[in-house]
Amino acid sequence: MSKTIKRIAVLTSGGDSPGMNAAIRAVVRTCAYHEIECFGVYRGYEGLIEGDFEKMTARSVKGIINKGGTFLKSARSKEFRTKEGREKAFAKLVEANIDALVAIGGDGTFTGAMIFNQEFGFPVMGIPGTIDNDIVGTTHTLGFDTALNTVVDAIDKIRDTASSHNRLFFVEVMGRDVGHIALNAGIAGGAEEILIPEEDLGMDRLVDSLNRSRKSGKTSSIVIVAEGDKIGKNIFELKDFVDENLEGYDVRVSVLGHMQRGGAPSCFDRVLASRMGVKAVESLLEGKTNYMVGLLNSKMELTPLEKAIKGKTKINLELLRVSDIMST
Ligand code: F6P
Repeated sequence: MSKTIKRIAVLTSGGDSPGMNAAIRAVVRTCAYHEIECFGVYRGYEGLIEGDFEKMTARSVKGIINKGGTFLKSARSKEFRTKEGREKAFAKLVEANIDALVAIGGDGTFTGAMIFNQEFGFPVMGIPGTIDNDIVGTTHTLGFDTALNTVVDAIDKIRDTASSHNRLFFVEVMGRDVGHIALNAGIAGGAEEILIPEEDLGMDRLVDSLNRSRKSGKTSSIVIVAEGDKIGKNIFELKDFVDENLEGYDVRVSVLGHMQRGGAPSCFDRVLASRMGVKAVESLLEGKTNYMVGLLNSKMELTPLEKAIKGKTKINLELLRVSDIMST
């Protein structure tokens, strides 16, 4: 293993996700294992620009594998999007004798890392941390599994009250422009209908589906709406539409919001974070740069950052069919 890299910095950037702390821990401990120094950067690229670094030892990351959020904090830095901002960040890294950077985050984080690498030849490695699961090159991003469990738990609870009052609930879930959270959590929560950006269901089919549900004897219904859904109406307009056009429905709306990003990471996310942290550091030590680590066919694999950013994740069509059949 190459020993030219002696000091690695790690940061979290963009929207936080459960498992980020576990990934920082894995990066720090892998550095300690290989007897190289590790620096935690606070507040993502903002902290990089300001030189807000702290040396981390294996003990600095004790007791965090089970904690949601990121103790390094996260930010969406406007300054890092400018050449001047990136020059400042590079100067701070050089000043601290840091040789490589692990960036944990989503596509915005990776875009920043990739441009930084192109401009200064600085070695970078990405770890995909976002609840949205919208990154190509990994079947699971960090936090996706935990977010699914959080959403399913919420749907179960909403189901209790929906069924007590014979109500129809529209439940909005996160996911930015993709429907992975909606589709998976919708199936697991037994949703009657799932609206996702990848498939425009159309209002007619939604109305048909609600009517079918009613005729089949259902007294309550749950419709999961991905926040990026393209049906043309937001969740409150959907409620108004049903109130105005379908008789006998008592409709409520529940927007789950940022609770989906919090909480203790699941077992799956903790293991994934640990594997990704080890792979990220060891890949840098092997001289690899400008990649993202990911889970593909149960193995840790590298994908060029550019491919990870530019690619579009696909919705699982089999899941769509399963959801259709289950709502019969
Ligand atoms: O990317 C994660 C995510 O939680 C998305 O699901 C959501 O669209 C967005 O971030 C919300 O961002 P903010 O925290 O800036 O409101």
